[in-house]
Amino acid sequence: MQVHNVDLTISAVSPSQYPSQGYPEIAFVGRSNVGKSSLINGLINRKSYARTSSQPGKTQTLNFYDIESQLFFVDVPGYGYAKVSQKERDKWGRMIETYLSSREQLRGVVSLVDARHAPTKLDVQMIELLHFYHLPVLVVGTKIDKVKKSKRNQSFSVIKKTLQLQADDELVLFSALDKTGKDQVWNWIEKKSKS
Ligand code: GTP
Ligand code: MG
Repeated sequence: MQVHNVDLTISAVSPSQYPSQGYPEIAFVGRSNVGKSSLINGLINRKSYARTSSQPGKTQTLNFYDIESQLFFVDVPGYGYAKVSQKERDKWGRMIETYLSSREQLRGVVSLVDARHAPTKLDVQMIELLHFYHLPVLVVGTKIDKVKKSKRNQSFSVIKKTLQLQADDELVLFSALDKTGKDQVWNWIEKKSKS
């Protein structure tokens, strides 16, 4: 999709605040600092539309981005940031599970992991949650520019194996710096948002 018009429609914490346009939605989940906002910016060709930060744990709401008045990208706050209290974690857990389990417009979830390392326990739990709710999953291994070309196949296998990906799950390696994988991610999003 050629994206010219993007608009942050709303930052929501509860269902009554979710937008009502009815467009298909694609959500982006992953550890804080894994590169969710950078992936969104890469997909829409903006440098810093979705807020990126070197300060993890910044995004605390579900941010709905209107893409060409055709779909919403939903930037979900990251998990796994050590300095977040248990109470905040529980609140995050309820917010994300409410959204994932009940949102009719949700067509698929892009689940990001850092391609430089094996996925963490929390990454595995996120995939299990997505499988539990029968949501279509695209795993994106981020920051692949930091992995030598000769090691990329290995990163791919480690992610696939650690997350125990299923036949329907897809996996793409991505770089926000050189845009490796961008077309593959868009293809998946377009396919899912039409289904
Ligand atoms: P939270 O909103 O805090 O959960 O973080 P996030 O997942 O949105 O991560 P964000 O996009 O803000 O990126 C975090 C840091 O990683 C920033 O310093 C980015 O510049 C960097 N980063 C993101 N993607 C890539 C990538 O593909 N390659 C490299 N080298 N750095 C990246
Ligand atoms: Mg972010």
